[in-house]
Amino acid sequence: MKLASKDLLDIESLSPGEIELILDTATSFKDVSERTIKKVPTLRGRTVINLFFEPSTRTRVSFELAGKRLSADTINVSASGSSVSKGETLLDTVRNLQAMSPDVIVMRHGSSGAPHAVAKRVDAAVVNAGDGMHEHPTQGLLDAYTIREAKKRLSGLKVVIVGDLLHSRVFRSNLRLLTKMGAHVIITGPPTLIPPHVAKLGAEVAPTMDDAIANADVVMMLRVQKERMEGAFFPSVREYFRLYALTVARVERAKPDAIIMHPGPLNRGLEIDSSVADGPYSLILDQVTNGVAVRMAVLYLLTGGHGGLGQDKPPEGARA
Ligand code: CP
Repeated sequence: MKLASKDLLDIESLSPGEIELILDTATSFKDVSERTIKKVPTLRGRTVINLFFEPSTRTRVSFELAGKRLSADTINVSASGSSVSKGETLLDTVRNLQAMSPDVIVMRHGSSGAPHAVAKRVDAAVVNAGDGMHEHPTQGLLDAYTIREAKKRLSGLKVVIVGDLLHSRVFRSNLRLLTKMGAHVIITGPPTLIPPHVAKLGAEVAPTMDDAIANADVVMMLRVQKERMEGAFFPSVREYFRLYALTVARVERAKPDAIIMHPGPLNRGLEIDSSVADGPYSLILDQVTNGVAVRMAVLYLLTGGHGGLGQDKPPEGARA
C-alpha cells in the first residue's frame, strides 16, 4: 500500500485508511530505535533534505534521525545558514535544491501554505513539518500514534485540548485527525485564543477548564505561542495559570487512567505545572520517541520504500 498523494502536506488530505497505514507502518519501524544498531537499509541511496525556516528541536532532529535510521542521505538546511539570508526567494531556493535531485524535502515555514506552493513546483515529495498557523501533520500523526499505543484505540475517546488554540498548527492537525478517527474532541482556553468557527470543524467548546477535563481520556496541553502574539491575549501569566494550567488537582478530574500530552516546547508554570509534566501520567517524552518511528513511516511510504517508488515490499529489516 502507499499514500495517494506525492506529498504529506496536511491531515485534511489523508483518508482514515491512510492514517491507519502510517500508524501501522510506524509500529513496524519503532523497534529499530530500540536496537543497539539503530539502522536499516530501507532508504539506502535516497536523499532527504530538511529545510527549516523556523526554529525546531524535536521535529528537525526527529526527521534527521528518521532519515539516517533508514540509511537515507540526510541534509539539513536552515534559513540562517542558507542563501535565504542573502535575499534568495523560497521558490528559487527550492528550485535549486530540486536541481540536486532529492527524493524528499521536509519543510518548516512561517507562512501557512508555503509547503503546498513548493510541492506543486518540485518532483520531490514534500513533507510539511509545520506551516505558520495551518498544520503540523506529522505531529498530529505522532500524537495519534501515542494515544493509540496507550489506549489501543482512537475512536470513542474523549480528548481535551487546552490553551493557545488560535496560533496552534498542532491543534489544527490533531482536531482534523482525531475527529476523522472517531474521537470526541473538547477544547477550552481564553476566548481570545479560540479560533472563530472552530465548532464547524467538529470541536466542542467547553466554558471552563474544569468542565472540559471532567472524565477525559486524554489531556493535550498546548504551548502559549508568545512569538506569534502582538499585544495581550490574556491579562497575566498568573491569571492564565489559575484558569487554564494543568495542575495535579485538575488532572484528578480526568479519568484515573488519563494520559497527559504536550507537543513541546513547554512553558512550565504557564500552561502546565512541572509536577504534571514530569508526573506518572505524562507521555510527553513518549511523543518525542514515537515521532522518530512515525517520521520513518512517512519517509518510507512517500518514497515507496526499499523496493523503489510505488512498490509495496515490507520495510526490509524493520523487524529484528
Ligand atoms: N513539537 C514541535 O514541533 O517541536 P519543535 O518546534 O521543537 O520541532
